[in-house]
Amino acid sequence: MKIAINGMGRIGRLLCKLLASTKHQVVAVNDIMPKENLVYLLKYDSIYNQYFLNKNIIEETGDGFQLNSQPVKVFSASSPTQLPWKNLDVDVVVDCSGKFITAELLHQHIAAGAKRVLLSTTGQDDVPLLIRGFNDHSLKNDQKIISSGGCMTNCTVLVFDHLINNFGVESAHINVIHSFTSRQSLVDGPYSDFRRGRAATTSIIPVKIDLDQTVEKLFPSIANKISTMSTRVPIPCGALVDMNLILKDPVDAQTINNSFQKLSQNQLNGLLGYNTEPITSTDIICNPHSAVVDSTLTYSLGNHLKLSVWFDDQFAFTNRLIEIVDLMNRN
Ligand SMILES: NC(=O)c1ccc[n+]([C@@H]2O[C@H](COP(=O)([O-])OP(=O)(O)OC[C@H]3O[C@@H](n4cnc5c(N)ncnc54)[C@H](OP(=O)(O)O)[C@@H]3O)[C@@H](O)[C@H]2O)c1
Repeated sequence: MKIAINGMGRIGRLLCKLLASTKHQVVAVNDIMPKENLVYLLKYDSIYNQYFLNKNIIEETGDGFQLNSQPVKVFSASSPTQLPWKNLDVDVVVDCSGKFITAELLHQHIAAGAKRVLLSTTGQDDVPLLIRGFNDHSLKNDQKIISSGGCMTNCTVLVFDHLINNFGVESAHINVIHSFTSRQSLVDGPYSDFRRGRAATTSIIPVKIDLDQTVEKLFPSIANKISTMSTRVPIPCGALVDMNLILKDPVDAQTINNSFQKLSQNQLNGLLGYNTEPITSTDIICNPHSAVVDSTLTYSLGNHLKLSVWFDDQFAFTNRLIEIVDLMNRN
């Protein structure tokens, strides 16, 4: 398939480089940054340099760059309506800009000639969600615009689905302990959520998230029984979801662990990981699973369950985007 990427930030660049080793071809990318800067950022990466070492050769050209000898055109438009998706015969635009999150805004890519659009975050209610391992079969031939959900959604939905169906969930509080992202500040500054404006690398920063709304939408049986927050910590990559749940009946930690281990080896093989070693967040970098249940940190007290689940917010999630592009190729 011919792919275009809109928004070449952390996710867009990683997606571009990972797509280079698939059957899909990135034909064009768009970002408001100058081309020279984009090529530089594709060549050097503070987190994944080691992973990509000797994997990709990136050379600047007159109208873009070559990625392993494949030409990629670079555009610098702030509106998708200005992009030549029709002339380039683009099959899928993956929108990783974070700026276009409603069906109406994403439709601008369709109006510009793209056949389909995949949004790299949870959009507004009018953008259907396709969460790998949860509702893969919901993709229809005529669906032009879909969302992959965000990294936190991809992690928590897999775990919730299993707990609700097998143990019954009465209520849950979730704290996503997460690396800092571009939606925070490097030095203290103004921000609508005041704490997001505080210097990202100098303190532990609790921030507001709307993960609860997404989870409630997907699991109506637990509507109004779930609360979520995120704690941003001074690391550049990785996350640990701290889940505190009240289950329907008492259950011991070993039973919970055994059931997740089985799930990771069967239905969710490749999407759910299961950890038995004393790892820390650096050990999760480049792990491709949407969620890695840490069996060493599972605790239960009667029907109270504490579960800890790791994920690499960028690498794992970007692998999901590629798998959804694969699904689009078949549907
Ligand atoms: N990072 C993660 O862990 C993660 C995980 C899953 C999903 N996501 C989601 O993926 C999206 C991108 O995240 P990210 O971390 O990659 O963010 P990012 O690093 O800020 O990347 C966004 C890129 O889009 C560019 N951009 C801004 N306005 C644009 C426009 N009108 N047209 C084209 N490009 C534009 C930005 O340029 P400027 O920097 O100049 O504004 C930036 O280069 C967000 O919706 C995020 O929620 C992120």
